[in-house]
Amino acid sequence: MPPENPFQDPVRFERRAPECAIVIFGANGDLTRRKLMPALYRLAYDRRLSAGFAVIGVSRTPLSDDAFRQKMQEAVQSFSEDTAVDPEVWKTFAEGLFYVAGDVADAELYTRLRARLAEVNETRHTGGNVLFYLATQPSQYAPAALGLGGAGLGKGEGWRRLIIEKPFGKDLATARELSASLHQVFDESDVYRIDHYLGKETVQNILAFRFGNGIFEPLWNRRYVNHVQITAAESIGVEGRGAYYQETGALADMIQNHLLQVMATIAMEPSASFRSASVRDERSKLLRSIRPMTPEQILQDAVAGQYGPGEVGGQTLPGFRQEAGVDAESQTDTYAAAAFFVENWRWAGVPFYIRTGKRLPKRTTEIAIQFNPAPLAIFDGEGSDCSPNLLIVRIQPEEGISLKFLSKRPGSGMQLRPVSMDFNYGASFGERSPSAYETLLLDAIIGDATLYTRQDMVEASWAVVEPIQNAWRETHQEFPNYPAGTWGPRAADQMLARRGHAWRKP
Ligand code: BG6
Repeated sequence: MPPENPFQDPVRFERRAPECAIVIFGANGDLTRRKLMPALYRLAYDRRLSAGFAVIGVSRTPLSDDAFRQKMQEAVQSFSEDTAVDPEVWKTFAEGLFYVAGDVADAELYTRLRARLAEVNETRHTGGNVLFYLATQPSQYAPAALGLGGAGLGKGEGWRRLIIEKPFGKDLATARELSASLHQVFDESDVYRIDHYLGKETVQNILAFRFGNGIFEPLWNRRYVNHVQITAAESIGVEGRGAYYQETGALADMIQNHLLQVMATIAMEPSASFRSASVRDERSKLLRSIRPMTPEQILQDAVAGQYGPGEVGGQTLPGFRQEAGVDAESQTDTYAAAAFFVENWRWAGVPFYIRTGKRLPKRTTEIAIQFNPAPLAIFDGEGSDCSPNLLIVRIQPEEGISLKFLSKRPGSGMQLRPVSMDFNYGASFGERSPSAYETLLLDAIIGDATLYTRQDMVEASWAVVEPIQNAWRETHQEFPNYPAGTWGPRAADQMLARRGHAWRKP
């Protein structure tokens, strides 16, 4: 028997799903196979799902329930990161999987779906509760929501909730349009806009770190923090998503949603409680306090990049313009960096640098908070390395927190060098972290929207990103401007150098 884990949280282990049916539109798609099914299976394996549980997959391809079960078993086998499929658990889980074929634009689909839901409610005792998950192309969100509404499926004897994936619009206006369509059928409180970064264990831990401890919060402001760097580097390219990516770009794909949410979590005010509305109000308030840039500021404080061909580990990699589905003259950003400023008393004047890109040297996501130097430098003599104090929150792949501070080197004389105090998730807790989708799906079934984005946050993020997006579209970019396998365009280094800063090498 493994030793008892003193860190195991009894409260979290009480979190089990109430009975419900989950309807997944786009059941034959990548998201369902790679993320949703493995997450649902894992919740079943961990006994977090109720016995009164069913999944109805919806997609165009005609399939029997059994064929769907077979496909999903293969998906779980291929994409579960750390669980081999247990035949007993799978058998019970698969009994709750069903399939309905149809086109989102066809009213008939919703009639069939309603009948199937009623049947499943009888046989599987799902309590009349339904969670709809739109794992489809964004163009199908509004038609699907309106189709559900038309068939009377938006309301019912139990609760109804709707999960949608980003992108939530392509700009502020389309984000509002989408929301208006959804609101014809679902109340805002029942719309769960998923941002899988918020479900990451380490992003959630930012709240624990900041508001569960008394010692960090006093330092968390402009008096002590010099600047913040948020990096989300990916070594992969566009991985067969060239056509989607060409329309989106790094700024809209990563910064508009994931990274501004991470920034909001780092910078928000303490919430009065850990209730969903309270936490989300604070995150929203922070997003609304980010200063949208003027065209002059965009020239200085926002940098677009696109990778060209490059060499990594002796292997030649194609440039973005050579990827399948990408225009040979594409002006899309595969790298984006910007300096954001928060207009409030806590953060006035503190730069929050954000950068993200494809085909960078390695996959790493981290937040580095750099503190001001000691007011008087008495140890900066020869042989000392007086690098500033840094707090690094590592989101992935290694999950943890490090504090870098100066220490005396052993020996005579006073030479200082930075050392690190490290917390590592795996080593400290000795248990696996649930995937973001496990966390977020369970939260939606329970009805906890704390880690979901809300329409006002989506709009606030677009208000910040849209001016940059527009400015970049109006300018002819000298692309490609960084070779695959390097840390992005030189202009991104210059952007920091102007304020005397430099990107950290993660
Ligand atoms: C997605 C983006 O939202 O996040 C992808 O569309 C990106 O382009 C992915 O690769 C990164 O997620 P993660 O969890 O691997 O950091």
